[in-house]
Amino acid sequence: MREPARRIRNIVLTGFMGVGKSTIGRLLAQKMEFEIIDTDHRIENEQHRTISEIFESEGESAFRALERDFVIRLGNVTKAVISAGGGLVLDSDNVTSLKKHALIVCLWATPESIYNRVKTQKHRPLLNCDNPEAAIRELLAKREPIYRATSDVLISTELRSANEVVSHVERQFRIARRQSG
Ligand code: S3P
Repeated sequence: MREPARRIRNIVLTGFMGVGKSTIGRLLAQKMEFEIIDTDHRIENEQHRTISEIFESEGESAFRALERDFVIRLGNVTKAVISAGGGLVLDSDNVTSLKKHALIVCLWATPESIYNRVKTQKHRPLLNCDNPEAAIRELLAKREPIYRATSDVLISTELRSANEVVSHVERQFRIARRQSG
């Protein structure tokens, strides 16, 4: 089957919780003079509730429906860096929709680095459990094939500075945008 035509004009940063999508996204958007769109923040603003509150009151599936609805509305966006919640690409409809207008860049980190980054944070319902380190390992192993299969570019953030990651993403985007016409 032929892939649908792509006109790449945005960048989606995907990858597991705590890999640095928000930080890299902000720096990248600044450097490229693109708008930054953080899907979690936008959903929270629209809903006037935190992600944790949505999970708690209506469950994960309600949150996934909000994500899906938000992704559809990104169809007309241009010159944006979209920092996607870590589970957003698990829905293949989201990926199909985003691929029409964006390069999908997955940021990668080891479970150890992820745990070190998130261990003091409390806003992620999926890691609010007795053993977040084990939860990260388990969920990351389950999701790894999906992150790999859905991304155009996979970048390890290990041993790279944030600025190096930003430059790498920017270079890949410029090549992809030129090729997609
Ligand atoms: C989730 C990741 C979170 C947020 C929600 C679920 C996930 O975003 O969307 O808690 O399923 O991986 P971050 O990746 O920005 O932490």
